[in-house]
Amino acid sequence: MILSERLKHIVSMIPNCKCIADIGTDHGYIPIYAVLNGISERAIATDINKGPIDAAIKNFKKYRVIDKIEARIGDGLKPLKIGEADVSVIAGMGGNLIGNILNENIELARSFKCILLQPMQYPEVLRKYLVENNFSIIDEDIVKDENKYYHILKVSNNRMQPFEKEVYYYTGKILIEKKHPLIEEYISDKINVLEEILSSIPTENPRHYEVEKLLNEFKEVKECL
Ligand SMILES: C[S@@+](CC[C@H](N)C(=O)[O-])C[C@H]1O[C@@H](n2cnc3c(N)ncnc32)[C@H](O)[C@@H]1O
Repeated sequence: MILSERLKHIVSMIPNCKCIADIGTDHGYIPIYAVLNGISERAIATDINKGPIDAAIKNFKKYRVIDKIEARIGDGLKPLKIGEADVSVIAGMGGNLIGNILNENIELARSFKCILLQPMQYPEVLRKYLVENNFSIIDEDIVKDENKYYHILKVSNNRMQPFEKEVYYYTGKILIEKKHPLIEEYISDKINVLEEILSSIPTENPRHYEVEKLLNEFKEVKECL
């Protein structure tokens, strides 16, 4: 099974566990990899749509893991009960949707030893949700795959201090602290995008000040790298 760079980075952050719950499994590659490589003894793969679940089951048969991975159809964490899985992965969805999925079954979300989250857009919205709802970001990675950046967050059920600067919700504070090899390039790209946005907003528009403030924070962080 050949994994994309994005998926390779996600699976590399999964801790050894008894049962992993992959929410929005689609092709099912995450639980297949976890079970085949001894990261997880068993897995539960869920998806809101029947099409992806049928495709995942086909792959579970192909890779001979059908006896170790249970497929369930349903919305977010709803197909799970507390205690069935000790680790969860929610990858390949927007930051808003991932936050909603956690929020709709918050007790269950808090029951995992850790959760791996990989937002396709708006990682800053997800980091804000986590900070405001007493989750803790314990590790982070960023990967560039086919010219797009993907953030991966490892989260546990502990309280964490809000970030001192708005920019950290965009960059991830851990990625800055550990001087991740991609972070400078990521920040430079964000600076270019923000400069373009800023030039299109009239100075009298209050949004101009907000974007300028964020842009300056990005520049300050880049200087300190
Ligand atoms: C882009 S795929 C990501 C597949 C895989 N997790 C990955 O990262 O490669 C998104 C999947 O999430 C499923 N999905 C969307 N909203 C969902 C929800 N609320 N609950 C469960 N699955 C959902 C979709 O049906 C789709 O199969």
